[in-house]
Amino acid sequence: MTADKTGLCEFTVVSNEAVADGLMRIVLSAPDVAFRMQAGQFLNLAVPGDASQILRIPLSFSHADAKAGTVEIVYAVVGDGTRRLSRMAPGDASTVVAPCGNPWPLVEGARRACVVAGGVGITPVVACARMLAEADVAFDAVVGAQTSSRLWGTDVLEELGAGRVAVTTDDGSAGRAGFTTDALAELLAEGGYDVVYTCGPEVMMAGVARICREAGVACRVSMERMMCCGFGACGTCNVAMADGTYKSCCKDGPVFDAEEVAW
Ligand SMILES: Cc1cc2nc3c(=O)[nH]c(=O)nc-3n(C[C@H](O)[C@H](O)[C@H](O)COP(=O)(O)OP(=O)(O)OC[C@H]3O[C@@H](n4cnc5c(N)ncnc54)[C@H](O)[C@@H]3O)c2cc1C
Ligand code: FES
Repeated sequence: MTADKTGLCEFTVVSNEAVADGLMRIVLSAPDVAFRMQAGQFLNLAVPGDASQILRIPLSFSHADAKAGTVEIVYAVVGDGTRRLSRMAPGDASTVVAPCGNPWPLVEGARRACVVAGGVGITPVVACARMLAEADVAFDAVVGAQTSSRLWGTDVLEELGAGRVAVTTDDGSAGRAGFTTDALAELLAEGGYDVVYTCGPEVMMAGVARICREAGVACRVSMERMMCCGFGACGTCNVAMADGTYKSCCKDGPVFDAEEVAW
């Protein structure tokens, strides 16, 4: 699938609020971008406020509303850039380079899917669920977090029409205690799934990929790498492939067929 042409666009912040412990939801007014973003693609966002920080921050989105001209991003505050992003207020302006990367693919003939999110991997997974709902593909969801206070998105997935939303937390404070992979293995054992879409910590996605392979179910993963340019020019974001080659996460990904990746 070919992405729409990547370009530099201005945005202003509509809202920027905490939605869970360490998780923020920012809504950008970005009419030049919103109508071109496809689920699974990402934006490379410049956070103003520190001239020494020249790198943009790559961020997936959970909802791009073409009519309203807005893009919603849920992000974790992990370092200096996302801390400065968390301080941006309604009306503040900056730029994004977008759309970047390739979207989640609709797998031909797939009638039932499962989406699996770990931590802040929920952001592109919510966009994926919206894509599936719009394409009339039935889906269930597995959402995992370290603890209940860091969970976001289960209600959104239900509103989007998820048949079931299985929640797992590492400490058992919400849903079942354990990992997303435990819940996924049980769902796949019931049968009837054609494809699994997942984003989360790499170790989780490796587990999801293995379970899918064993169950004979197609699996698409959204990978994360440190990124400098975000459009295939610098070579910092390599992902090792099972055939011994490397692909760029920003340009060839971030979505890959799990079978392609060297886990
Ligand atoms: C395609 C893509 C989509 C992403 N989507 C989201 C999203 O929707 N929501 C979200 O919260 N985060 C997302 N990320 C991760 C996000 O880009 C990083 O958390 C952010 O760049 C950290 O910047 P910082 O300046 O706050 O932290 P830094 O000070 O740069 O780093 C803080 C910590 O985060 C790690 N880190 C930094 N950048 C990345 C990265 N690109 N991938 C993995 N670890 C990183 C560092 O190793 C360090 O441990 C995405 C990354 C990619 C590549
Ligand atoms: S970030 Fe530069 S090639 Fe991917």
